[in-house]
Parts: sequence; C-alpha cells; structure tokens
Amino acid sequence: MEKTHCHIVVLISGNGTNLQALINASTTSNFRVVAVVSNNHEAFGLQRATVADIPALVVDHDNYSSRQDFDRKLIEVIDAFDPELIVLAGFMRILGPEFVQHYQGRILNIHPSLLPAYTGVNTHQRALDAGDKEHGVSVHFVTDELDGGPVVAQEKIAVLTTDTAAQLATRVAAKEHIIYPKVVSWFAAGRLHMDADGAYMDHDKLPAGGVEIHPAAVQDSIRLP
Ligand code: GAR
Repeated sequence: MEKTHCHIVVLISGNGTNLQALINASTTSNFRVVAVVSNNHEAFGLQRATVADIPALVVDHDNYSSRQDFDRKLIEVIDAFDPELIVLAGFMRILGPEFVQHYQGRILNIHPSLLPAYTGVNTHQRALDAGDKEHGVSVHFVTDELDGGPVVAQEKIAVLTTDTAAQLATRVAAKEHIIYPKVVSWFAAGRLHMDADGAYMDHDKLPAGGVEIHPAAVQDSIRLP
C-alpha cells in the first residue's frame, strides 16, 4: 500500500458504523485503514472490514488471564501492520498503561457525550436524566484515564423535551460519522498532536473542549481558539 497515506488500525467491539464511516471516507482522504482488530468474534464490524478487503483479526480477551497479557497480544497483532495511528471505534475494553504508553499520542477514541460529562456507558440516558439541554460527541486522545484524555473536537446537539435515549443515540451517531473521519484526516495531515499539557492543532493548544464543530460549517471552516 502506498505510503503517501497515514496508515491506521481500527479497534472495534461491535457494529462498526464508525469503522464504516472511516472506510468510506478513506477512499477520498489522506488515511487508509490497514487492519481492523476486535476483542469480540461476533462484532459485525469484522464483516464490514472483510467486505472492504481489509484484514480483520480477533484478539479475544477471554483467552488471556490478565489485562497485561491481552494488551501485549494486541500490540503484537497491531504492530505487524506498522500503523501511524490507532483508532478506537466502539472498542469496549479498557486499555492498560503499557498499551497506552506504547502508542503514546497516537491513539484516538470517540465517545458519545460532551466530555468530561458522562464517561463510561449509557451516556444518552444519563444526559436525559440530568435534564441536559445539550448533548453530543467527543473525539479525544487516549491516556490511562477512562474516556479522559485531551479532547480534540466536539460537536453538540440540542436535546428536545420529547427525546428518548434511542433518538439521542441516532442523532449523536450521525455526528460521529462525520467528526471522526475529519479528526483522523487532521492527524494524518500532521496537524494534531498530544503533549503533556493537552492536545494541539497547528501548534496551538486546544481548549478543554477541543475544536468545536458547527453543523452548518463547510469542511474546513472550524473555529479554532
Ligand atoms: C459509538 O457511539 C461510540 O461513540 C461508542 O460506541 C459506539 C460504537 O458504535 N464508544 C464508546 O462509548 C467508548 N467509550 P459503532 O460500533 O457503530 O461504531
């Protein structure tokens, strides 16, 4: 595969709609998905990868007695593809410090909330229960802290009084499928990096909420600090 593109490995656990968005975008962008790895044999995203002719591999966490052993196997499998970036797309296992340090500054995650609000699961119901007026999606660099690394970009949606968790999930997912390929393309272009004190874009430190993506914005019309 030509090296003019940033090679990414995508880690999944389930449906893989974000993976699909990345695969679709990659055909006209500056990155390529060189492998997909799942901890779950039944993840539908593995089929998406196979259809797209991308190697699909499973490292089943049940086969490892410790998180460290699982992480080490994951590193071995990923490193065989020599990627520049690891993209977590619905990967529902916590990665240990050894994994995170091995790919320091080269792991992105997408999370269905406006971080730091609602790390973990059931984010849509929790936003509803709290009576939030806004909800959304965050993309962040991965550190040791669960859903806690520096945020690169966020997009907000309005919460309607009639919304159910499922309706929120649908609207957030639609935003995810746009924001994630966009952020990956920034990384691929060398515009993004993580330092000890946070995330940077074009050498400017990003604010705590990262770049705020606006729905009506054209592709590169983003508000930077
Ligand atoms: C996405 O909503 C993603 O933000 C979330 O899992 C879903 C995966 O969907 N990730 C997390 O909650 C990580 N903490 P997908 O498999 O259809 O891409």
